Amino acid sequence: MKVTVFGIGYVGLVQAAVLADVGHDVVCVDVDQNKVDNLKKGLIPIYEPGLTPIVESNFAEGRLRFTTDAAEGIAHAEIQFIAVGTPPDEDGSADLKYVLAVAETIATHMNSPKIIVDKSTVPVGTADKVSAKVGSVLSTRNERIDYHIVSNPEFLKEGAAVSDCMRPDRIVIGTDSQHVEEQMRELYAPFNRNHDRMIFMDVRSAELTKYAANCMLATKISFMNEMSQLAERLGADIENVRRGIGSDERIGYHFIYPGCGYGGSCFPKDVQALVRTADEIEYDAQLLKSVESVNYKQKEVLFDRVFNYFNGDLAGKTIALWGLSFKPNTDDMREASSRVLMEKLWEQGAKVRAYDPEAMEETQRVYGVRNDLDLVGTKESAMQGADILVICTEWKVFRAPDFDQIKRSLTYPVVIDGRNMYEPEIVERHGLEYFGIGRGRSI
Ligand code: UGA
Repeated sequence: MKVTVFGIGYVGLVQAAVLADVGHDVVCVDVDQNKVDNLKKGLIPIYEPGLTPIVESNFAEGRLRFTTDAAEGIAHAEIQFIAVGTPPDEDGSADLKYVLAVAETIATHMNSPKIIVDKSTVPVGTADKVSAKVGSVLSTRNERIDYHIVSNPEFLKEGAAVSDCMRPDRIVIGTDSQHVEEQMRELYAPFNRNHDRMIFMDVRSAELTKYAANCMLATKISFMNEMSQLAERLGADIENVRRGIGSDERIGYHFIYPGCGYGGSCFPKDVQALVRTADEIEYDAQLLKSVESVNYKQKEVLFDRVFNYFNGDLAGKTIALWGLSFKPNTDDMREASSRVLMEKLWEQGAKVRAYDPEAMEETQRVYGVRNDLDLVGTKESAMQGADILVICTEWKVFRAPDFDQIKRSLTYPVVIDGRNMYEPEIVERHGLEYFGIGRGRSI
C-alpha cells in the first residue's frame, strides 16, 4: 500500500521505516530541508537500535523516500499519517500548532479522498479539531472531497522502538468508518499475525487510551518511588518489597522499579497534559497531580544525598556521574534525572565528571562548554580526581564494575546509585559505602 508520513521525528521515522520494511511504499515529508538531505545521505537524526539498517536498505530499494514537498506526499497516498511533535505549551497542555498546520497543508493540496491518521500523542478532541480544519480549508477551496480523521496512537518505547513497532502488543484504531477499518487492517496486516492485535474503538476513546496508558505507567513508578521513601525511613528494603508485590499477577513485575524519577519525552509531558485537559473540563485530577509531584521530588533525591553527605558544603567537590540519558539505549536527555542533579550541583559550586555511552554529544549540545562539566570517554576516567560516584542511568556497561578500582579512584569511597543496580552487601564488601533508592538506609 502507499502511505505518506508527515514529520520525520522519532515516531514518524520509525513507523515509516517499519512500514517500508514490510513492503509498503512510503513517502516521508518534513519541513526541515537539512533533515531530509541528511536522511538521503544515510545520516539518521536519532540513535535507535536497528533503525539505521532498515532506513538505509528501504531507502536504497526506493520504498522509503524523503521530501520537503508536501504536495508530492499528499498526492502519493490515500493514507496520510500525522506524526509531528506536540510540545508542551507554557501551561503544560499539548501544543497542537504543528498537527493543525499539517492538517491545513493536506486540505490545501488534496485532490482525492484521504484517511488522515493522528499518530502524534494528542489530547482528546484533537481529531475533531483536525476535522474542522480540513473541512474549513476545503470549503474555502469550494471542494467536496471525502476525508476521515483517525486516531492511531503510538506505544513504542525509546531504545526498543523498532522492535516495538515490528511486534506491537496492540494496534489501537479510533474510527467509526468501515472503509477506514478495512484500509487499516490491510496496512497493519503484516504486524497482526498469530492473534488479532487490532483494537477498534471510537476516536475519543483511542485518544484517551494513549494518555491513560502512559499515566498508568507513570503512576506505577511514582507509587514505587513513594514506597521507597517509606522503606528508607522504616528500615525496609524496597527491592524485597518489589519482588514481594510483583509476584501477584494483578500487580506484575513491570514498571515497578524505583529509581531517581521518570524522564523522557513522554511521561512528564503526557501526565502534565492530561492534568491540563482535566482542568479544562473543571475536573481536579488529584491522583495525576500527585504522580507529578512525587516524581518532581524523586528527581532531587540524588542531589539531596550528595548534599547531605558533604554536610551542605559542595564548593570545589567533583562528582563522578555515570549515565546522563533519561534511560539506557538512547541519547535522549529530555527531562533526564541527571539534569536536575547536575544543575543543582553546579548551583552549589560542585563540578561534574560524566560518562554516558551515547548521550555525551547531546549533553554538550544542551549545556555547551562549561568549566564545571567534564565529559570523559570512559566510566573509569569519570572517577579520576572525583570525590564520590553517582549513577543516574542503568546502562549495561555499569552492571559489573570493578568495585576495587572505584574505591581506589574516589577520594571518598561512596557510591550513590539512583537505579538500584547493585546488591549493597557486594559493594560494601569492597570497602565502599553504598546508598541505593529505598534500601533501608539513607544519608
Ligand atoms: C514511554 C512508554 O513506556 C511507551 O509505551 C510509550 O509509547 C512512550 O512513552 C510514548 O508515549 O511515546 P519511553 O518514554 O521511551 O516510553 O520510556 P520508558 O521505558 O517508559 O521509561 C520512562 C522513564 O521511566 C525512564 O526515565 C525510566 O527510567 C523510568 N522507569 C521506567 C522507572 O523509573 N521505573 C520503571 O519501573 C520503569
